[in-house]
Amino acid sequence: MASISARGGLLVAAATAAALLAPAVSGAIVARDCARPGAACTIAETARRAGVHFGAIASSGQSDAERALLAEHFTSVTAENAMKWGEIAPRVGNYGFADADEIAAFAETNGMRLRGHTLAWGVMQMPSDLASTVAAAADPAARMSELLGEHFGTMVGRYGARVAQWDVVNEPLEVAGTVLAKNVFLDALGPGYLGLSFALARALAPGASLYLNEYVLSWPSPKLAALRTLVGDLRAGGVPIDGVGIQGHFYPFFPLPDRATMEQELRAIADLGVEIEITELDVSSWHFRDDPDPLARQAAFFGDVVTACMAVPSCRGITTWGIQDGDSWLDHAPPFDLAAPNDPLLFDRDLEPKPAYAAVRDAIATRAVPFEDEAWGVFRRVGKLRRDGLLRGPSVRTARRVVRRAAQMLRAERFADACDRLARGVRAANEATGPAVAEAAVAITALRLGLLCDEA
Ligand code: G3I
Repeated sequence: MASISARGGLLVAAATAAALLAPAVSGAIVARDCARPGAACTIAETARRAGVHFGAIASSGQSDAERALLAEHFTSVTAENAMKWGEIAPRVGNYGFADADEIAAFAETNGMRLRGHTLAWGVMQMPSDLASTVAAAADPAARMSELLGEHFGTMVGRYGARVAQWDVVNEPLEVAGTVLAKNVFLDALGPGYLGLSFALARALAPGASLYLNEYVLSWPSPKLAALRTLVGDLRAGGVPIDGVGIQGHFYPFFPLPDRATMEQELRAIADLGVEIEITELDVSSWHFRDDPDPLARQAAFFGDVVTACMAVPSCRGITTWGIQDGDSWLDHAPPFDLAAPNDPLLFDRDLEPKPAYAAVRDAIATRAVPFEDEAWGVFRRVGKLRRDGLLRGPSVRTARRVVRRAAQMLRAERFADACDRLARGVRAANEATGPAVAEAAVAITALRLGLLCDEA
């Protein structure tokens, strides 16, 4: 018999796990299984059930209605611009935190994860006097290192543990190239700026996942191969890169990859031993301009992207670079503005979900385990524990019978009845003897917790 403390520990672990996975429907037994494609769930509910993040960007110009969509349908927030060095400090050391603070507070208030975008982006949106300040120094390398340290310290000091992931370095490679892009950091510090940035971030934010964030114009591409080489070499050199952000901008005018290619490329990055997130997903409708049903084709492609990510266990999250088609950077960024309206997002200009919404939700669901399948898994596990002699006594048969019945009820979405059966299952497991009593009781309890059986 497991000691009481061990059993208590197992129960706490089960409760924590199940609480994280529990659908957003709280305060009552679940009314639907969001792990089932087609269930009337939000993307956020399904993402939580699948144990992944699905996010979007926040910006100060968003309406209350857009922010309501962000809070209801997404589990993660990235500041589109507000946390970039040149936006939060237009001049070196001259910080204005209001926009970033508001976004961080929004994420916290709504229980959403916050991605910190981005600490070091040497190409755009830097303080207007950064380059001149460094150039004027007697030792530009030392000055740049000092300024990086001050900026990272300011950002991590202010937003700290609220930021789960930092895009430590954004877009270090050339636009369509395979070498490091020329930028203010490379000029002052050489390639070592990457290692310095990640070392600084690790020292300041030991609890955060540190990401290198990059985009490609096509999949596969020499740039993707160069990205893998860069990350592999940096990590081999001890640079603490935890994750790679593949932005996922599917621009107009560039070819769309198929699902197998995206899965293959994501897997190749994962094989480096890093987490992956698709960090800036948008899909220009220009690609479907000649299609009889462009919205359906766009939905299918969104589904392919998400399915490719869900097929790679290290792919932990996806963020769309916008909420609704009326506010997309693509419509204002040459040359992509030539394809405006790009309509690249999940919600239309009336803030209504497009077909891509359900396609994304149902692709995410493939990562989740339906309650029915979880119950059958418990049924099989209890049976094996009994066969192995680790769970003994007449009540084991009772436990298996009621869990099997619960699985059948879960198939019929009779959630309350399943809760009752599973309660009997827990009692029966606890009446058994043998070293696996706690394991059996915890497994059934975890299912009850996921179903919110004991909610008021
Ligand atoms: O802040 C000024 C404002 O004072 C001025 O009145 C206005 C007039 O044009 O410009 C404002 O700056 C704009 C800035 O966004 C803040 O809104 C810039 O012009 C505009 O170019 C800038 O665009 C952003 C772009 O990054 C900059 O490169 C986009 O909103 C943003 O979506 C985009 O996001 C990047 C990611 O951070 C990194 N990956 C690529 C992605 C797309 O470029």
